[in-house]
Amino acid sequence: MSELHKKTKEITELVFKSSRKAREETNAEPEPHLTQPITWPVECVVGPGLEGAIACESKIGYVNGLKGWLIYRGYDIFDLCAYSTYEEVSYLLLYGYLPTAVQLKAFKKNLIQCRNVPNTLRLLMSFSIEEMNPMAVLRLGTNLMRQEFTYIDRDGLVPKRGKVIGTDEDSIPMETVPRGEEHAIYEFKDSDPFKSKELSKFDLEPAIGYKSCYRLISGVATIAAAIVRIRQQKFPIDSDPELSHAANLIYMMTGKQPTPEEERIMDIALILHADHGINASTFAAMVVASTLSDMYFSVGSGIAALNGPLHGGANEQVLHMLREIGEVSNVKSWYKKSRKKKQKIMGFGHRVYKAYDPRARILRPLAKHLAKRNKESGRLFQVAKALEKEVISTLGVKKRIFPNVDFYSGIVYDSLGIPPEIFTPIFAVSRVSGWTSRIMEYLEKNRIFRPRAIYIGQFNKKYVSLEERTNKTR
Ligand code: ACO
Repeated sequence: MSELHKKTKEITELVFKSSRKAREETNAEPEPHLTQPITWPVECVVGPGLEGAIACESKIGYVNGLKGWLIYRGYDIFDLCAYSTYEEVSYLLLYGYLPTAVQLKAFKKNLIQCRNVPNTLRLLMSFSIEEMNPMAVLRLGTNLMRQEFTYIDRDGLVPKRGKVIGTDEDSIPMETVPRGEEHAIYEFKDSDPFKSKELSKFDLEPAIGYKSCYRLISGVATIAAAIVRIRQQKFPIDSDPELSHAANLIYMMTGKQPTPEEERIMDIALILHADHGINASTFAAMVVASTLSDMYFSVGSGIAALNGPLHGGANEQVLHMLREIGEVSNVKSWYKKSRKKKQKIMGFGHRVYKAYDPRARILRPLAKHLAKRNKESGRLFQVAKALEKEVISTLGVKKRIFPNVDFYSGIVYDSLGIPPEIFTPIFAVSRVSGWTSRIMEYLEKNRIFRPRAIYIGQFNKKYVSLEERTNKTR
């Protein structure tokens, strides 16, 4: 057991309690059609928004939406939150197994070295960051990191694309019935296709591969913390190499070393958000990577997708919503009004979960625990609890709508003194390990993503010249 886990046994106990409750309420079993290898082409029923579509096989993670079950590489999320750390979980997601002590030490050392993104921060500070959406800054930051660390766009340094690609995508018969033939798979011939002695003297790296994952896992955290500081008219703080990823994130944002309890709760929040199947942002990142773009652009796309209020942006909206409701006594009337206007209640519902989201199960008692520390957080937690009761007794019964991860995470971050506009960037800080792991896995058997649309437009329309069109409308 780590020193941190020894000092925060009360938090571990809260996780165990949530776990016991989940086991009592849900009898988790894998769904055979979603947990066995497939042979392409695969038959599935697809709904709007690609609901039910199978994009790929993966060994990284599994979400059982009917049972409220979340697994990373075979390990239950409740166990990982009780026993593990974000660094260990990132290693697990990336490499597929839990590291030995030596492997973990080396991995942490790498992550610590990758926290420094000096040119990226210098360039970022030349923009009016305080006037920009923090997610836009985060995305811009990943572009600047791409420039700082990689040679991908350096004239004369980039090897010819043909050398690194196995198959010519244009030769794949896209318009035929999909057969999923072996020959139609793009592949990297080498794990580090851009490596050359010539390039190493410039001290620049490939924009894909494990090093780019480490850079992004650490660098995105540094940028998120710098955004907080700059928005408060303060200078970014150098990272502290003695601190864990979670503790350092809080330190670089607030300038204060967190208590063990704060560190542990942030660590658990990071573990909980690290991966979640082929959600919108992960899919966005994978689509970009499947074109053989690079890790930095792919993660930037994940950040863009995560920003939306239907996805990661919901956590910030939840806090505003709870503040707007204000008091427990206002919950019923507020909820009635929202339902009348057919408004979606932020922090509820999920494409996959038709049961209580296990991440919300863990975050709820942590939010309650932290909320004891100040009156305002306590009030928000009570409002959240009352709203949850209303929603579950109505939408929960009728439509299987329950709290999702975003419902309680906002209260947790707020209690840790993090400004609401940084909630979604923190989600991104954590999800980078999921995005990069999924991309590394997908690239092993890459095929460009290319779905079709059903054309429901017209045919055989006669082209009318601009002149004629203009005269007609006069
Ligand atoms: N409040 C009220 N009704 C809801 C909610 C909600 N939060 N979520 C879904 N519904 C209703 C819809 O109105 C719809 O009802 P209908 O069948 O009568 O038309 C039905 O449930 C299905 O909803 P969809 O929006 O079609 O479900 P979908 O799978 O497309 O969307 C989503 C899932 C986007 C998460 C949705 O539940 C939502 O908008 N929730 C609020 C935003 C939110 O919390 N997002 C964070 C999700 S977790 C994450 O991304 C990290």
